[in-house]
Amino acid sequence: MGSKDISKIMTKVLIVFFAFVVIAIGIALFINRDRLPSQDLSEERCEQNNAQYLNSELSVEERVDDLLGRMNEWEKIGQMVLVEKNSIRNLEDIQRYNIGALLSGGGAGPKRNNEPLSWLEMINDFQAETKKTCLKIPLLYGIDAVHGHANVLGATIFPHFIGLGATNDADLVRRVAEATAEEMAATGIYWNFAPNLDVAKDIRWGKTYETFGSDTARVSRLGEAYLHGLQDSSTDYYQVLANPKHFIGGGSMQYGTSRNKDFKVEEGNFTLNEEELRRVHLVPFANAVDEGARVIMVGTASWNGTINAANSRLLTEILKEELGFTGFVVSDWYGVYQVAPTRYESLVTTINAGIDMVMTPFEYKDFMSNMQTAIANGDISQERLDDAVRRILRVKFEAGLFDRPEATVEGLSVIGSEKHHAIALEAVRKSQVLLKNTNAALPISASAKKIIVSGSSANNLGRQAGGWTSEWQGIDGDTSITGTTILEGIKSVVSEHTSVEYNQNGDFADGSPLADVGIVVVGEKPYAEGWGDNPNPKLSEEDLLAIKKTKTKSNKLVVIIVAGRPLDISAYSADWDAVVASWLPGAFGGGVADVLFGIYPFTGVLPIGWDI
Ligand code: GLC
Repeated sequence: MGSKDISKIMTKVLIVFFAFVVIAIGIALFINRDRLPSQDLSEERCEQNNAQYLNSELSVEERVDDLLGRMNEWEKIGQMVLVEKNSIRNLEDIQRYNIGALLSGGGAGPKRNNEPLSWLEMINDFQAETKKTCLKIPLLYGIDAVHGHANVLGATIFPHFIGLGATNDADLVRRVAEATAEEMAATGIYWNFAPNLDVAKDIRWGKTYETFGSDTARVSRLGEAYLHGLQDSSTDYYQVLANPKHFIGGGSMQYGTSRNKDFKVEEGNFTLNEEELRRVHLVPFANAVDEGARVIMVGTASWNGTINAANSRLLTEILKEELGFTGFVVSDWYGVYQVAPTRYESLVTTINAGIDMVMTPFEYKDFMSNMQTAIANGDISQERLDDAVRRILRVKFEAGLFDRPEATVEGLSVIGSEKHHAIALEAVRKSQVLLKNTNAALPISASAKKIIVSGSSANNLGRQAGGWTSEWQGIDGDTSITGTTILEGIKSVVSEHTSVEYNQNGDFADGSPLADVGIVVVGEKPYAEGWGDNPNPKLSEEDLLAIKKTKTKSNKLVVIIVAGRPLDISAYSADWDAVVASWLPGAFGGGVADVLFGIYPFTGVLPIGWDI
């Protein structure tokens, strides 16, 4: 058989093989085709001209009644799913599955870049898909703008909540939230997964910095201020929806009880009795409901072994019935699916317990089909379905989603505005807590002859910002952040005759005269959530060495700690003249310098215990 014959045979074999592959793929797609109901837009119920639910003159309840009455089961189920936007396989799925809500997980920005315009265009593209459906119900889009709209390039990056807790200034916290809401709304995002109302009782928890601290009353008061800052508006709809979280008791989770093998506290268990739970952790949520909270997020904590998302006592009896909460309850990341051995059972259990919207956050097709089956089986009643959807629609109308004009390019100018920067700078100044001041170390004279600066966090905006910034876990040395490092702040306030020398490791020339003051800015690398669970939060060896070296070259030593929580410094602080808790100050390091040099006084108070 000649080579030509062989190549002919090979060609035929390849053709047959590829034909087989194509047929196999076609069969697979057909088998997996969705059980999608028809989307016949000519149906009378899709008629928009005189639809009552589009009439903003009517009450919210009248509009909800009209809209709910037009919806089929498929559309109702679609309103109950919250999907991470990177899980949307193609834009058409938003209309095909009538998806009601999307979120950006930490760092999940537009594919093109993190510029404000890219965010605005991405949101408007998602919303455009809903306009192709019968009832055109707008999407709710949520994000963790927990220290400003920090996922967005150029947004104002405020101190994290632990620092706002240290300010103990409700009016300032309200203004921080208001500025955050303005920058969010400019990108068309009207749902902030904040305020965190956890009462943090164990600093080993990676979420400690996301809280206002360990004092129930302070958490409640500042949480109320933040909620109003987000929601209050001169229009007849909320500026941005607040979302108190994580209902409930996460701050008391016990170390070593996490369900997640990578964590120690997050997704853990707490064993308070109900009286303790009410006294310590329910107060901030009860107050938030009274103050107008319309969305509550349930945390992934377990109470005496029962995951909160499955606890009808908490979600229905206490939150909805006793507290009279009429908004909707959303589950936290994948938390629903940790409840039972199968996703079907998990959905049935948690929705019947009181979850109204499920942050899947990935599998929306699986959610839709399981929900259809559960309703067909009667495992989830029509009444429960309608109650959940009614709550969600109510909040969508209250947030003005059907009425507010689409966010425009012109509105983007509010992002990173001078006004917002001034609020952030004020928050940094007021969050600084003076832990120790001896030998008249502070305030430092701006006309000092020589100042030396060292430490891992002196010139590092990524460490100042921490997690939930351009990336979920934050970036050590993040160069994408626009702001001022603490070192730059120091340089900006000293006199022209003052020498400021910087070396991160504390390596300063021998023999030269001692510095009037050595400032060492130390702290934690960025982290978020369970990845920050830590059995003994303390300073790194590098930072301890920088402190030691800088001390030998200075007359006075000032240590600044940039961290999301108290660090164990008890073995060392006796050798330091002054110590300042800076928390995670965000992008405005100049605010730290302002109090170091006495331009502003120290007014911060510890939000959580710190024995130095
Ligand atoms: C997370 C957090 C929650 C956040 C949510 C969406 O896992 O627990 O605080 O709002 O997912 O990113």
